[in-house]
Amino acid sequence: MELSVNTQALAYLVSAILFILGLKGLTHPATARRGNVYAMLGMLIAVGATLLGHQVQSYGFIVAGILGGALIGTLLALRIQMTDMPQLVAALHSFVGFAAVLVAIGTFFARRASGDLDALLMSEVSAGIVIGAITFTGSVIAFGKLQGLLSGAPVKFAGQHLLNALMALAAIALAVHFAMTGSLLALFAMTLLALALGVTLIIPIGGADMPVIISMLNSYSGWAAAATGFTLHNTLLIIVGAIVGCSGAILSFIMCKAMNRSIINVVFGGFGSDGGSGESAGAQAAEKGIKSAAIEDAVYWMEDAGKVIIVPGYGMAVAQAQHALKELMELLEAGGVEVKFAIHPVAGRMPGHMNVLLAEADIPYDQVLEMDEINSEFPGTDVVLVVGANDVVNPAAKEDPSSPIYGMPILEAGRARQVYFLKRSMRPGYSGVDNLLFYQDNTSLIFGDAKDTIEGMNSALKGGGH
Ligand code: TAP
Repeated sequence: MELSVNTQALAYLVSAILFILGLKGLTHPATARRGNVYAMLGMLIAVGATLLGHQVQSYGFIVAGILGGALIGTLLALRIQMTDMPQLVAALHSFVGFAAVLVAIGTFFARRASGDLDALLMSEVSAGIVIGAITFTGSVIAFGKLQGLLSGAPVKFAGQHLLNALMALAAIALAVHFAMTGSLLALFAMTLLALALGVTLIIPIGGADMPVIISMLNSYSGWAAAATGFTLHNTLLIIVGAIVGCSGAILSFIMCKAMNRSIINVVFGGFGSDGGSGESAGAQAAEKGIKSAAIEDAVYWMEDAGKVIIVPGYGMAVAQAQHALKELMELLEAGGVEVKFAIHPVAGRMPGHMNVLLAEADIPYDQVLEMDEINSEFPGTDVVLVVGANDVVNPAAKEDPSSPIYGMPILEAGRARQVYFLKRSMRPGYSGVDNLLFYQDNTSLIFGDAKDTIEGMNSALKGGGH
């Protein structure tokens, strides 16, 4: 069965609508599951309509590719830890970039062989190669940094911005030259230069700014896909690429706003750092009189509290403490305590990380508040439980202009009556900087794995505590 051009266009239209509905669904945890179903259905129709289209010449390689890809994808999905998702996303972006480069080069040679090159196609091929190559190597570097294969520290050198600007200009000049002449040398040089640019743009970006880079690369991968759509005359790929490109760009803006970073600075690199001397600085801090507390101390205060706010962070994901937290919430509520969760936009390691985990534990959405909604509530709160979060409550972001996180809005946890940090050691958070909140009089640290600590709290509450 071969679909007519019109039927295929109609199927693509239905897919595009389903993708938009999918994205809309993903804007709220309550509708996210439905959004995913829409998007999956859209993809099924898109793949089906493409495979039944007149462009397909033989199915051998396509079926082999789908089977191989499905196998790898299924294995990855089954094995991947939630905490490793950002690396996986970066790796997947790199595939999109690589595919865009291959499709563009492949199309150029195929159309050259059939003497069917024109200026428009050549410009599309150039755009696909340049954007795809930057996305590919940029995502590989982001993957390396997030996976810990490369240092998260920014790599900076004198004249870096100038070098990046010159490389970008040279890549554009070569792209124009290639589009006009079809010179293989220009094609080769342009591809190499764009690959190198992906590396030099991402290496100066350090720890605290990685979230923005992930969403930027997400946006680039969308534009790479859209360029491929133009090359292949596939309208759906153009639409989907543009949706991904725009939503990635909007997400980057939102993240930049949340971290008080200028998008221009992040895109052109060199801001943020994982600075600090890590553990030894933390250990020195411990000697400076930071208080530690026992589980029972926190339980004592929480039992008597009118209101408790829980601030989850990356450590909650590592400890998988969300289900124990749900039980803690229920036990406290049974005792008449009001419990809320406060989410910082960059808590964890990917956008929405905390929301996903709390939703998994069936914590009601109306008790999960974003930073702007809850910050005014901290002064009236008796106890804040900081569960594996660190950077997102660090007052250094407000008070220490030399800090790499300076300027990032934070959850104002320190304004509550009592603050308990649940963490395993004196190690700092992702940005590597010492947390000034540890030194505050109303702050104590409860050391241990967050899940174990919360389960200890739950048993104390169930046993009547004190
Ligand atoms: P972090 O500042 O990274 O702090 C995590 C804390 O969790 C650390 O204090 C760590 O201390 C503790 N921890 C780790 N495992 C634990 C366990 N099993 N039990 C208890 N505690 C544990 O986390 P955050 O406050 O969520 O901030 C997020 C940071 O990640 C920001 O700097 C942000 O820029 C960055 N980032 C965010 C994203 C996105 S998109 N959200 C992506 C990449 C990077 P111990 O080791 O002592 O236990």
